[in-house]
Order: sequence, then structure tokens, then C-alpha cells
Amino acid sequence: MESLLPAQQIVKIVNEELIKLMGGEAPQININPKPPTVVMMVGLQGAGKTTHAGKIANMYKHKGKNPLLVACDVYRPAAIKQLEIVGEKLGIPVFTLGDKVSPVKIAEEGLKYAKQKGYDMVFIDTAGRLQIDEVLMRELQDLEATYPEDADPNSPTKRVGSDLTTEFESIEHRYPMQSLANTYSSEELGEWIDRIVKELGEVEFVTELKFDGTAISLCYENGALKRAVTRGDGRRGDDVTNNVRTITSVPLKLRGEGYPALFEIRGEIIMPYASFDRLNREREAAGEPLLANPRNAAAGTLKLQSSQTVAHRGLDCTLYHLADDNLPYTTHAEMLSAARGWGFKISDHTAICRSREEVEKFIAYWDTERKALPYATDGVVIKVNSYAQQRTLGSTAKAPRWAVAYKFQAEKALTRLSEVTYQVGRTGAVTPVANFEPVQLSGTMVKRATL
Ligand code: IVH
Repeated sequence: MESLLPAQQIVKIVNEELIKLMGGEAPQININPKPPTVVMMVGLQGAGKTTHAGKIANMYKHKGKNPLLVACDVYRPAAIKQLEIVGEKLGIPVFTLGDKVSPVKIAEEGLKYAKQKGYDMVFIDTAGRLQIDEVLMRELQDLEATYPEDADPNSPTKRVGSDLTTEFESIEHRYPMQSLANTYSSEELGEWIDRIVKELGEVEFVTELKFDGTAISLCYENGALKRAVTRGDGRRGDDVTNNVRTITSVPLKLRGEGYPALFEIRGEIIMPYASFDRLNREREAAGEPLLANPRNAAAGTLKLQSSQTVAHRGLDCTLYHLADDNLPYTTHAEMLSAARGWGFKISDHTAICRSREEVEKFIAYWDTERKALPYATDGVVIKVNSYAQQRTLGSTAKAPRWAVAYKFQAEKALTRLSEVTYQVGRTGAVTPVANFEPVQLSGTMVKRATL
């Protein structure tokens, strides 16, 4: 982002410099008389940004500069008043648009005003980090709009999404997106393990949580995110790249080295309970029907037309499978750790198990502990660690033979029914809804269920 910004125009004074200033030292500011030098007052609330904006502006006034103070701490109207008082005392003009206008707008208008009126230094008094990011982001968006040929498809502006509606294009997966065979009891799982051990002899298994979200395949080319495609029917899925780019845990550019020039990595898009609860609170306030669970919420969000809305939904993405025939790794665990190094979010809650007992121990532990996780899980996935052994086992038409899912029993809770109401859907379909005393279930408070 820095490289695209007009560097001399924006000089950031970070907290440390403010602290230095409090000790009386002058900041090192590179003054470029035209266009005005912009000084953003950065720091936490109470760091003394307003006072120091006045002090530094005054110092430069005495050095012959013509400064302008811009008040855009709209979250605290009192801060605007404070800067106005400071400006009046020092005889330095203050520009503001009041506390009803967005801080970014005020900063933009303040800059325009300074250029028109010939101020050579602009001190922007902000409310903190967030606003600065917004101002810089706007600046970058403008530059990208002016020089579209230089715009990077993985620019940080893509994190905020756009409100352009998207038609999802159907894309063929390079490798089909398989499903997993399920087991529901330790006997069934034990039989699967015994069968594999009988066939292969010594086997290491990797046990992982089974994330309850919606599957995604991310394609990277030369370390840059190229495409994100839903599972669809396993052969073809929808191109949801613009929506996935807004998920901050999905790396737009990979770190480190050693990743294949072209590869597809697969995982799960999840909606953490905190995001899910917030979304349902907003829907309730707007009189909209509530979403049944984080899985449906994640899947629905991924298919939204506006990536800007997706950006606000708080999705997360965790990866667990690299689809490629020619990987430079001999085991799944090795690949996971390499992928973590490239910047992917890979779960820490994995283990290497060398026996049926060890697998059972992992399952028993997470069957309880998962209740404390901030996202939904519905089981454990058990995978053969060695890629050579995976190849020996191969796949059926639908699922690999080298992996299996163990499904947890759905959580149950007891509560008191208050009343049954009726919900009318968009198509006119009527669904009875049980309203009951709120009860904690799978990490979220539940007070309603469709019948
Ligand atoms: S591995 C070829 N690992 O569960 C193997 N899947 O019910 C690819 N899932 O299709 C899948 N957590 O969407 C794998 N740790 C995990 C998983 C996981 C959740 C999902 C995935 C899969 C479905 C099967």
C-alpha cells in the first residue's frame, strides 16, 4: 500500500514520536511546501493528540509555515470543541464539518480546503487508528481508480469489498472436491482404523477438528490468490473470489517460499459464534428471519451479491487440504506446517496418533473441549498422514479411502417452551416457530427454533 501513496504528502506521527514530543524534542518532519504536508495525529484516546496538534502547528507557524488544523474526531464532539479552543488560542485556523460528517470526509474536505487557501501544513486530529486506515484506504481507492492499469487485484482495498453485484461464474475444479465418509460410533471408527492398519501395517493418523462451515477451494498462482471457488457439485463450483478476498484470514499474497507455482488449497469458510450472534441480533432488530446456524450463515454469506456486506459479516477461513499430485512433502502434517508458514490459517488443534486408542483419546478430549471454541465443529476428521500410504489407499467415486469423519452427537439442551409463533417467508410459506427460554447450545444462545 505504501508504494502507491504519495509519500511526502502523508507524514505519520506515531505514538512514540508523540511521547518524544512530550519530552520536548521536535519531530523529524519532511516538509514539502507544495502540496501541503499532512500530519496525522495518531494515538490512542487520551494520548494528547489534540494538544500536540496545536503545539506542533504552533512550532511550525513560528518557523514561517502556514498551518491548518483539521478536527475530525467525530466520535467525541468534545474533541472538536477542544481543537477549536486550541486553534483560537494560538491563532491557527481550524477546519471541521462538525460531528455529523464522517471523519474521512472531513479529512478529505480539509485537504481540499488547505490546497485552495494555500496552507502548507495540515494537522489532522483523528480519533485513532481506524480513521487513519480509512483515510489511507480512500486515498488508495482514488489512486486505483485514476490509474486502473497499475491497480493490484489483491490490493488491500479489496478487503472492504464493493457493492457491485456479482454473477457467480461456474468454474471447474482442477481436482474434484471430494466429500468424506462418516462414522458415528467408536465401533464404526475402530473398524475403519483396523482395516487400514491391516492393509498398510504401521500407520500414522492425523486427527483434526471437523469445522462446521462451507467448503472452499483457493487457487494460488505465483503466491497470489487467483480464485476462490465453492464446492458446488464437487466437479464445478461458483467463483466467489471477490467475496473471499474480504476475509482477512485469507492471505491475498503468500509469505515465505517453497509454495508450488500453482496450487489449490482447500478448507472451510466459517462464521464464528460472535459474528453469527451479532448478525442474528441485527436481523432480529430489523424484523428479518433469524439464521438457523453458523454453517448456513457462512454458506449464505459467501453467496451474497455485495462483497461489501460480506466484509462486514466477520467470516473466517481455516485450511486443511492441499490438492496436488506433485507435492514436495511426504506427509500431510508436513504440508500443514509449510502452509502455516505461507500465511494460511491452519488449526493448531491437530495431533498425530499412532493407534486406535490415541485417536479415541483425541475425540473424547475435543467432544468436551469444543464447547469452549469460538466457532462450531461437528466432529473430528481422521487422515492417514503419509502421502505414499494415501496413494495406496486411493479413493472411491465420492470420497478418499485415506480419511474419515467421526461425527459428534448433536448437542442437546433442556428449556421451557414459552409460545409457538408463525413465521411467513418471502414465498408466503408459513413455518411454526417454538419460542423458549434462552438456552446455551453449541456456543450460542438459542431462544427460537423452527418446528
Ligand atoms: S478433509 C479430500 N478436513 O467436511 C478430503 N474436511 O463432511 C477433503 N471439513 O468436505 C476434506 N473440517 O468440507 C477435511 N479438517 C477437515 C475438515 C473437513 C471440515 C468438511 C469438508 C468436507 C466435509 C465432509
